[in-house]
Amino acid sequence: MTRVLLFGANGQLGLALRRAKLPAGWTLKALSRADLDLSDTPAIEAAIAAFKPDSIINAAAYTAVDKAESEPKLAFALNRDAPAAMARAALGAPLIHISTDYVFRGDKRTPYLETDRRDPINTYGRSKAEGEIAVLEAHARATIVRTSWIFSADRANFLKTMLRLAETRDEVAVVSDQRGRPTAAHDLARACIALVEQHLAGDSHTAGLFHFAGAGETSWAEFAEAIFAEAASRGRRPVHVRRVTTGDFPTPAKRPVNSSLDTTKIEALGIAPAPWRDGAIMCLDALLR
Ligand SMILES: NC(=O)c1ccc[n+]([C@@H]2O[C@H](COP(=O)([O-])OP(=O)(O)OC[C@H]3O[C@@H](n4cnc5c(N)ncnc54)[C@H](OP(=O)(O)O)[C@@H]3O)[C@@H](O)[C@H]2O)c1
Repeated sequence: MTRVLLFGANGQLGLALRRAKLPAGWTLKALSRADLDLSDTPAIEAAIAAFKPDSIINAAAYTAVDKAESEPKLAFALNRDAPAAMARAALGAPLIHISTDYVFRGDKRTPYLETDRRDPINTYGRSKAEGEIAVLEAHARATIVRTSWIFSADRANFLKTMLRLAETRDEVAVVSDQRGRPTAAHDLARACIALVEQHLAGDSHTAGLFHFAGAGETSWAEFAEAIFAEAASRGRRPVHVRRVTTGDFPTPAKRPVNSSLDTTKIEALGIAPAPWRDGAIMCLDALLR
């Protein structure tokens, strides 16, 4: 029996993990905020000590990028201190911790590699960057998976926001100068499960930093166009995307212009991201059924 402890049971990734086909012999214990407040580090340590997991997946985080600018203490508590406590309490059991493209400045011209320097430009990115460092300091064999632009049929995300806007609008303004790789939560869940399996099989290559993001690079505007085109093909009203720049759309937190993650390293483990368009189609099928 393989005991896997999941933090963040009700987030996009957490729900995808709970719905995923798990390997034979796995018992997944999923903890939500109602079970455990992650700002309570002794409670994290107690939960891990009580369950004695063979592996831990941390899908929980403070993910409100703009709100983090006015709540830095909470962002750092959840994105740095909580995963650091998990890493300490894991006592060497494999820990898969999820991080973000926002640890980078975004001014590189080519996709970001795992070896590129962290240089975040907003509070959320800083809290996640410090979380990565704290996890790796506390647990030399931890695995950190940076991902980007997660979407799913659950919770709040860009794909669902576009569908909501499409109910009442003929035109939506979307930024076209930020580029990245949208990632289906179910595809990321598959990658996390594969990493745990490889870790437990004793593969030493699974420790350290990895990038995992949906195959194919796009902009938010192109992503919106793809969503509206797919929705229209299912009988929804056509929506025109008006392309605007980041400068036209001021937000409390700055966003990296280039969010593209290079995924060559994780692909070498046999864990290849699926095209983001395929994931988007699956979500739209579920949402517009
Ligand atoms: N979303 C993206 O586009 C994106 C991009 C790059 C990286 N990431 C990273 O990917 C990971 C998964 O993201 P996601 O989109 O699945 O996140 P999400 O949907 O926002 O889920 C985050 C989860 O964390 C839980 N949580 C927050 N504060 C908590 C607290 N104080 N105590 C206990 N639980 C708490 C939330 O609980 P509730 O259910 O109660 O709210 C929620 O279930 C995160 O590490 C995130 O930083 C996300």
